Amino acid sequence: MKTVTLSNGAEMPIVGLGTWRAQPEEIENAVQAALESGYRHIDTAFNYNTEEYIGNVLSKWIELGKIKREELFITTKELEGQVKNGLTKAIGLSNFNSEQVQRIHKAAEIKPVVNQVELHAYLQQKELREACKILDVAVTAFSPLGSPGANTHFQNKYNYSLNDFPDILGHPVVKELSEKYKKLPAQILLKHLIQQDVIVIPKSSNPERIKANIDLFDFELSPDDLEKLNALDKNEDGRIFDFMFFKGVEKHPEYPFKARLK
Ligand code: A2P
Repeated sequence: MKTVTLSNGAEMPIVGLGTWRAQPEEIENAVQAALESGYRHIDTAFNYNTEEYIGNVLSKWIELGKIKREELFITTKELEGQVKNGLTKAIGLSNFNSEQVQRIHKAAEIKPVVNQVELHAYLQQKELREACKILDVAVTAFSPLGSPGANTHFQNKYNYSLNDFPDILGHPVVKELSEKYKKLPAQILLKHLIQQDVIVIPKSSNPERIKANIDLFDFELSPDDLEKLNALDKNEDGRIFDFMFFKGVEKHPEYPFKARLK
């Protein structure tokens, strides 16, 4: 598995399993399928309600000797004290724009090593990636496929419709490259990001798609094709946050969490 070396020396697997929105009854199977497919990086957070289920599967695998704790890279959402007490390998950020990354980098005693933001072909975060690179902060893309299932999820669970997101998987350029490389549209989109050292955490609860989403290392996109995908950028504002505002979360004064050019 290709890794990204973080500024503190830790190796972060470039593909991880996303678990936000995974349903409790499907998450253990998803983690099981992911470990079997070679995933060693799992993204979670206390408020995804997936930590317990992930822990159940991991402890079984560790007990059975199928995996070692130190092979795993688990991202949850965390603090300097945890690093000092040896409970955490590294601190990352999420939804920080470039000014915020700069501010915290300056203030933090233990420097953040990753910034996790919404990032996909229609929101490529080019300026933010540049700003992070200067500070040696790696970037993780959440919703790397553009969250194709998000609308149905919010509709079923909360009876709330997000703004209609233009589909990325079906874009003609993605389809054309899918045919050219004999890879799924999702694999083209993920490869586009990992080939530029962006870490990806596609969410899936389907064993076949989980397997496909890590089967990315037997082909390379040509520089021309990378350019074609770069050209799809629409610099969208982000697809998910309007839901938070609907739930009454106050809009952060610095929203949207993209690059801020001075
Ligand atoms: P499922 O869990 O049924 O596989 P993102 O990570 O951009 O938010 O995308 C996650 C959504 O995309 C989920 O709804 C997931 O559904 C779906 N998905 C994950 N992998 C693929 C794939 N390889 N092809 C098509 N859809 C996918």
